[in-house]
Parts: sequence; C-alpha cells; structure tokens
Amino acid sequence: MTSSKSLKTDILVIGSGIAGLSIALKLAKNHHVTVLAKASLSEGSTHYAQGGIAAVLDPFDSIESHIHDTDEAGAGLCDPKAVELVASHAAGSIKELIEMGVPFSRCEGEQCTYPFHLTKEGGHSHRRVIHAADHTGLSLTETLIKKVEQHSNITLLPEHISIDLILNRQRSRCIGAYVLNKLENTVYDIWADFTVLATGGASKAYLYTSNPDTSTGDGIAMAWRAGCSVENMEFNQFHPTCLFHPNDRSFLISEAVRGEGGILRLPNGTAFMKKYDSRKDLAPRDIVARAIDQEMKKHGLDCVYLDITHKSPEFILEHFPTIYERCLKVGIDIRKQQIPVVPAAHYTCGGVATDLHGQTDLEGLYAIGETACTGLHGANRLASNSLVEGLVFAEMAKQSIEDGYHKEINNTEAPKPWDSSHVTDPQEKILVAHDWDELRRVMWDYVGIVRTNKRLQRARQRIKNLQKEINEYYHEHTVHSDLLELRNLAQVSELMVKSAQKRKESRGLHYNLDYPNTLKKAKPTILKPKKDKRP
Ligand code: FAD
Ligand code: SIN
Repeated sequence: MTSSKSLKTDILVIGSGIAGLSIALKLAKNHHVTVLAKASLSEGSTHYAQGGIAAVLDPFDSIESHIHDTDEAGAGLCDPKAVELVASHAAGSIKELIEMGVPFSRCEGEQCTYPFHLTKEGGHSHRRVIHAADHTGLSLTETLIKKVEQHSNITLLPEHISIDLILNRQRSRCIGAYVLNKLENTVYDIWADFTVLATGGASKAYLYTSNPDTSTGDGIAMAWRAGCSVENMEFNQFHPTCLFHPNDRSFLISEAVRGEGGILRLPNGTAFMKKYDSRKDLAPRDIVARAIDQEMKKHGLDCVYLDITHKSPEFILEHFPTIYERCLKVGIDIRKQQIPVVPAAHYTCGGVATDLHGQTDLEGLYAIGETACTGLHGANRLASNSLVEGLVFAEMAKQSIEDGYHKEINNTEAPKPWDSSHVTDPQEKILVAHDWDELRRVMWDYVGIVRTNKRLQRARQRIKNLQKEINEYYHEHTVHSDLLELRNLAQVSELMVKSAQKRKESRGLHYNLDYPNTLKKAKPTILKPKKDKRP
C-alpha cells in the first residue's frame, strides 16, 4: 500500500474533542482547516464529561482562589504562569460557549448570584463549575459539531487515524501527517503549514478506566517519535468513583455527586474520608482515590459505596439524570440505594511538553488539550480544570499560528508518499489483542495508585518485551487501527514508567512506597527522545 492520495490544507487538526473543535472554529475564520477523528466526530473523552467546566463566574469567587486551589491540588508542581493564564482566561472562554448556545443549567431562585448553576467538586473552595446537568460533555459536543459542520472552511474526516507526523528533510519542522482512512483502508499523506495535536489522553493504558476507546495516547507517542519532549508522564489521575458493576465497568459517577453532598461509606455504613483529610469527601482526587484504595485493601473489599440518598428524589433527578438512568439500568436506584464505586484511570496529567501557546519543541507542531503538558495540572489535576484548559489553549495556539502566518513559513517541501511495499497483510490479528490485554494488566498491576520500585522495574521489563514484539509486527505488516493504537499505548506506557522511575519521592498522583516523602523542591520530569533512536 502506498499513499493513495495526497491532501493539502493550511492547518491539520488531529482530534475532534473540545480542544480540536475549538481551535478549528477559531482558525477557520482565515484559513482552511482539516479535522481528523479516528472514530466518529463525537467519540472522545469530551463527549463523556459530566461535572462541568471550572471558571471564576460567581461575583463572590476570585481568580486568586481558583489559582490557589489549582496549585494546592497540583502538589507544588504547577507552572504558575500556566495556572494564572487559564484562571484569568476561563470566564472569557465560557462566554464564547454561552454565545454559541451550549445549554448550561440555569440557576433558579433568589439565592442565585450568577444566571447559571455552579456546582462544586473536590479541591475547589467555591462553587465555580458551570455544567449542563450531568451531561456537560454531550451538550458541548453537540453544539461544537453543529458549528464545524456548518463551516465552509473546515473539512471533517471522521474514521481517519493518523499514523505518524511527517517532518521535513532536516527533521526541523512538522509538515503534516500520514493518515489511515479506516473505511477504505488506504493511507493518505496530508501536507499542512501547521499541525495541531488534540488527540486526548492515554488512560486506556490501564485495565480499568473511565475513558472511551479513543484515549490511547496517539498524540504523545507520535510527538515523541518525531523528537518532541514529554513532561510529567508519571502523573496519571485515578478518578475515585467509577461504577463497580460486572455489567458496566467504565461508567463515571461524577465528583459533582460528592460536591452536592454525596458521602463515601464502607459496606457497614461508616463514612471514612474524615480519617484522611479535613475536606473529607471533597479532598482532591489523589487523596480520595488513595483513601479508597487503602480501605479496600485493609478490609478486603471489592468496592466502597457512594451515598446520595439523603437528598430529595427531585434534586437527584434534576442534577444527575444521566447517572440515575445508567445506574437504574443495572438495577441500582440511586434515590434509595448507595452506589458501588471503585477508582479507575481517568486523566493523563503529563503529555507533550508545550509553552504557553501550545507550541511543542518542533516548529509547525502544536499540542493542546489532554495530550499536552502545559504545566497547569502539576502533579494532580483539579477537577473540571481539563475542559477549560482545552478552551484556553485553543485560543493561545490560534494566536500563535496566526502570528506564524505573518512570518515566512518554510513549507515548500512536499511529504514523501507513504510506502508499504515491503509489508504483508497480517494473518494473526489475535496476537495484537493479546498484547493489548497484557499491557493494560501490567500497567494496572504495577503502575497504579500505589507504586514500588520493584513493581515499576517489573513493568519496565514486561513493556520492553511487548514493545519488541509490537515493533516487529508493525514493520512486517500493513497497518490497522488496533495495531497503531497498541504501538502508541506501549510507547506511552514506557514513558509513564520511565518518568515514575525518575521521581525519587511521592507527590500528588505519584505515590511510591519506597519513597513515601515529598522532596522540598518540586521539579517536573522531562524526557527527551535520543536523536539516534528516532525512526
Ligand atoms: P478528547 O475529547 O479525548 O478527543 C480526542 C480526539 O482525538 C478524538 O476525536 C479522537 O478520535 C481523536 N484522536 C485520537 N487519536 C487520534 C489519531 N491517531 N488520529 C486521529 N484522531 C485521533 N474534564 C473536565 O474538565 N470536566 C469534567 O466534567 C470532566 N468529566 C469527565 C468525565 C469522563 C467520563 C472522562 C473520560 C473525562 C472527563 N473529563 C472532564 C476530562 C475531559 O473530558 C478530557 O480531558 C477532555 O475532554 C479532553 O479533551 P481533548 O479535546 O483533549 O480530547
Ligand atoms: C467528574 O464529573 O467527576 C469529572 C470531572 C473531571 O474529570 O474534571
């Protein structure tokens, strides 16, 4: 298979979540934008977001307080400039969404100090999370997709998975990407002045996750292979409360349930969070997830319980209609019964290292949204600070790309066509499925909420063996999406383990029993690919 087609566009955006669609809409005013999605346009973490978007909207709240809460959750590792940038631009980004018509829940009654309802989540000292009931992501996605579909300057390519970035001959600039059209099984090269990675996170590296199938760290792996640095990859966030049920393992029970009064209990009814933190059930996620993990291990439990039954049935139905319906499907009526919950992999705090405009190490390449590490989240993301990061960094990257068009862009060298004349069709795709299972099990068992040097070393060795097999398979066979994603997940898992091994302390989401203390000085973990190892 060689490139069946070559496409040219001004800006290639890889990903159709909040980050990708936001920047596409902003840039399409002056440029032609092509947006790729490896599944349907709506599939991605954005679609499943529940709690909402953090922004200082209430007149009694303050940007200083949002900054303080973000820093506190981030355990001393947040980049102050990124935090200040996001906290101060968040309200402007929300205004744009309201103007686009996102149907946020309204505040009703005399006590309202802002027209829309603001909920609370762990680590926030004010109500500052704007939301559309418990289906914020769905409402956002529907609004954004309607807008991009109507735009004459945007070409949408769903079911197209990017394989790798294309660099110029000197390997100094990104000039586009090779892309597999999954429906036709053909590879395109897409030539672009600027490429934006908006490919989401990598939580599918873990056996149990709240994330959809798209979260396979493709952008991080592609950027790494292209020579970009990655940052803070050891900080994978585990959401404390995913539904525990044999028929539904990846459904999230929003932190807003605890924000509105939900209490975590042991099977005997004991509320245990007061033992761990003065903020009890509303402590930051790393603390709550570790507490649940500890209680489950101590008492030999399969799960703990989240109790919102003390709220009125009307309140529950108004605020949590999606959670109510989904739990009812598996026989749990949350108005009367406690919800069985366990922690699950939820968010990749690290990612492709960028500056405050989403610019990566490589000219012509930007990374925004969950795939990027901007410095905002430090060692642990504050709840509902992700969607807002995607919005603010879409604006910052847009400004930098517009500036780029005012300078001379050296992009005259067309991409080399994709060449797969030396590979054959795979006969045993089952090998890929086995490697997927093994990788996700290894990451869950050895690189989870609590780590040790021995577990990390074991994971490193297993991942190395898997990578050898996967790379051989990749170089001998025609590409298909399962293989591409596995190759990326294995790469990202290696980066997570290497980063975890470099950190000789416990901080935020990274908890290592061999180094239980936190060092005085907080330093990011930055990995740079070795030049001679690049493909
Ligand atoms: P995504 O929305 O994940 O989109 C990634 C896109 O990239 C998809 O279109 C995918 O198809 C595409 N893609 C990936 N790889 C490729 C490739 N190789 N080629 C082509 N396309 C590719 N955060 C909050 O702030 N508030 C919340 O309430 C909240 N709730 C959440 C609830 C759940 C269940 C989950 C899973 C996450 C939640 N988060 C929340 C986190 C937040 O939703 C995500 O971090 C955010 O949506 C990420 O947006 P994104 O645009 O970076 O990526
Ligand atoms: C949630 O609703 O609990 C998810 C919020 C987030 O991940 O920020």
